[in-house]
Amino acid sequence: MTTPKIAQKAPYPVEVEAGKSYFWCACGHSANQPFCDGSHKDTGMNPEKYTAEESKKVFFCGCKATGKRPLCDGSHAKL
Ligand code: FES
Repeated sequence: MTTPKIAQKAPYPVEVEAGKSYFWCACGHSANQPFCDGSHKDTGMNPEKYTAEESKKVFFCGCKATGKRPLCDGSHAKL
């Protein structure tokens, strides 16, 4: 099984725009956290698409262990 790299043990706050799609990095290797930059290529993992329903601040998972991908669910506190 492939384990994602912990990018940081905290979420990434991002102001998202209604109707816009974002590709959250699931592998933890992107240099453009919390978004995918293609670095997952040889990891067997893929980014998760997130489409904003409204314009607001959301917290994308930084530890990659969330149970509510791609958003933070507090799992980083247990790592
Ligand atoms: S770089 Fe991590 S999922 Fe694409």
